[in-house]
Amino acid sequence: MELAGARVLVAGATGVLGGELARALDGAGARVALTGRDGGALRALAGELGGVPAVVVDAVDVEAVRAAVDVAVAGLGGLDAVVVAWGVVAFGPAAEADDAVTEELFAVNTLAPMSLVRAALPHLPDGGAIVLLSAIVADAPTLQMAEYSASKAALSAWAGVLRRELRTRSITVLDVRPPHIDTGLVDRALAGDPPRLPPGHDRAELVAAVLDGLRLGGREIVFDPGEKRLVRR
Ligand SMILES: NC(=O)c1ccc[n+]([C@@H]2O[C@H](COP(=O)([O-])OP(=O)(O)OC[C@H]3O[C@@H](n4cnc5c(N)ncnc54)[C@H](OP(=O)(O)O)[C@@H]3O)[C@@H](O)[C@H]2O)c1
Repeated sequence: MELAGARVLVAGATGVLGGELARALDGAGARVALTGRDGGALRALAGELGGVPAVVVDAVDVEAVRAAVDVAVAGLGGLDAVVVAWGVVAFGPAAEADDAVTEELFAVNTLAPMSLVRAALPHLPDGGAIVLLSAIVADAPTLQMAEYSASKAALSAWAGVLRRELRTRSITVLDVRPPHIDTGLVDRALAGDPPRLPPGHDRAELVAAVLDGLRLGGREIVFDPGEKRLVRR
């Protein structure tokens, strides 16, 4: 996909990775629309990017998620790609997980991205793109993070089937499974304290890999632990 002029909805643009992806896409000439839950942060970023369309959305509200796509389509005059960077995490033993916390994890990390993509798909042209931020824990479910791991593994499984079903439309479905990155996500956990985590990976490398994935197509971005770098395939 040619990024210059591409119309891209970034969901979770108020987050660290979502915000950096939105800025990088804007810098590459894309026309972005934004969603976020924090209205102040969302308005600030929309202003920084020159008054781009922006809509406050709580991802647990399916109707609001669908409506956000309509706002983006109206504001941008169509839609070529969506980037979903919503996410929450929680920590603790699987046997003790709180039901409400587990429900929120799956609502935000798994169900809301599915709803957003379903709402966006009728608008995406052949050759369009979907980027989903899953996580390394989808491949390597991690102790004290069973529900987060499961929510991301479910999203990645769904993305794999969606990609195969969309093959005839040449739509890129990029499943991004980064390792730990210092964004403060773990300090905003819905529950529990993080286990000892490895040093955070380079954010800039992730952002560059996602933009390359959009430009060149690709199925996934994963972490190569031997090379300690991200790999697109
Ligand atoms: N950081 C890491 O180590 C890492 C590693 C692998 C994968 N990831 C994934 O990357 C994505 C971005 O994470 P990040 O590190 O950038 O975290 P972050 O800075 O905390 O961003 C999280 C984003 O999710 C949004 N969000 C959370 N709950 C929401 C809800 N109910 N409704 C709407 N938005 C909601 C936040 O919105 P507000 O701020 O507006 O509330 C924010 O925009 C997540 O999917 C995360 O799982 C992160």
